[in-house]
Amino acid sequence: MTEMKTIEPARHGWQGMIDIPGDKSISHRSVMFAGLGNTPVHINNFLHAADCLSTVGVMRSLGTAIEFLNENELIVTGKGLHGLSEPMNVLDAGNSGTTLRLMMGVLAPQSFLSAFSGDASLTRRPMRRVLLPLSEMGARIYGRNANNNLPLVVVPTGGKLRGIHYKSPVASAQVKSAILLAGLYADAPTTVTEPYVSRDHTEQMLAGFGVRIERSGTSVTVFPVEDGGYRAPDEITVPGDISSAAYFLVAGSIIKDSRLRLNNVGINPTRTGILDVLREMGAHISVQNERESGGECVADLFVESASLHGVSFGAEIMPRLIDEIPILAVAALFAEGDTVITGAGELRVKETDRLHAVATEFQKLAPGSIDEREDGLVIHGKSEIQRARVKSYDDHRMAMSLAVLGAAGKGVLIENPESVNISYPTFFSEIERL
Ligand code: S3P
Repeated sequence: MTEMKTIEPARHGWQGMIDIPGDKSISHRSVMFAGLGNTPVHINNFLHAADCLSTVGVMRSLGTAIEFLNENELIVTGKGLHGLSEPMNVLDAGNSGTTLRLMMGVLAPQSFLSAFSGDASLTRRPMRRVLLPLSEMGARIYGRNANNNLPLVVVPTGGKLRGIHYKSPVASAQVKSAILLAGLYADAPTTVTEPYVSRDHTEQMLAGFGVRIERSGTSVTVFPVEDGGYRAPDEITVPGDISSAAYFLVAGSIIKDSRLRLNNVGINPTRTGILDVLREMGAHISVQNERESGGECVADLFVESASLHGVSFGAEIMPRLIDEIPILAVAALFAEGDTVITGAGELRVKETDRLHAVATEFQKLAPGSIDEREDGLVIHGKSEIQRARVKSYDDHRMAMSLAVLGAAGKGVLIENPESVNISYPTFFSEIERL
């Protein structure tokens, strides 16, 4: 039986305070990088959600000791950069592209064999983009069919990987991170140049582990780690996820009489495209109590209802808001005038084809409100909205965006809403509370 979630229209504004859960990207990295050290690392505000638990499972299978003190606090004790052990079984990356792609970079240089599987969505996603540069470094990774889809096998090379300079055709933090991680073990420095700088949590965190990282423009170079050169910190505190805050930044803007305080949100500049675009649309958002936490910038965000207007944005800002397109499309639907999104072709290879999914489901809730383009969307703001039954495509960001649309509009029935467990398990209880 299909699971279903009904979201009723918000009868009054959403007001109050929300503690935004830990950042998904940083939670993954904290467990992986701590697991490559050889001293215990205490991780706070870890995102206890399905994606990050896939990384926990994979690292445990490779011999890392991981002890949860409670859901969001854990101690990770690795056996050193060269201390991972051969997994006894196929590693399951679940729905998580970050687990799979980053771990391919970690496993390519190891002296043992490993194999990966994942869920139906991950099995469809392109892995060539990671295989290609890693193979250039000398890695031996084999996948299914010409696209090198899952399942994948990583075979030991018998020697060191080569340091390379890779000019990536896509701005992707997962691709960049896989190469940088493999570069820790290479025979010479490794450089990645991207068309635009993607999120830099790997660079930030590795620098905190004592790894030499140099940046210049859209390039980043990692230097191979010498003996004793990888030093795990005692503690990592994960900031709140701006990609999770995004649902409330938009809800707080478009639901009348709303006023929300979002606590402890990471505002790393490679992630704040959502703030720039919403402000350009006329949103009332203020950033307060800026502070630093574990090498990342954090702040409290305040948002209140505002009249929004349509905007245009494209490739240049895309890496800074790549996961926020579905919820920005919701903001655009409630804005005056058209919003034109270009340069967003990468959305077609996310957990689902998000351009197609957004366009298809918007048609049900607001017929005629949206045109799907090859690399983007055109959204006609203030289109007539109705109540409808929609699909989540088992995609967490679709489910949450549709919920906000329903709350701000005439209500919505969402099929397979449980995908929110991938990045924000308490999302529905949070909106019920509001
Ligand atoms: C992520 C990078 C982005 C993003 C994903 C998380 C990461 O993917 O969409 O949710 O943690 O590095 P791409 O690298 O494919 O752009």
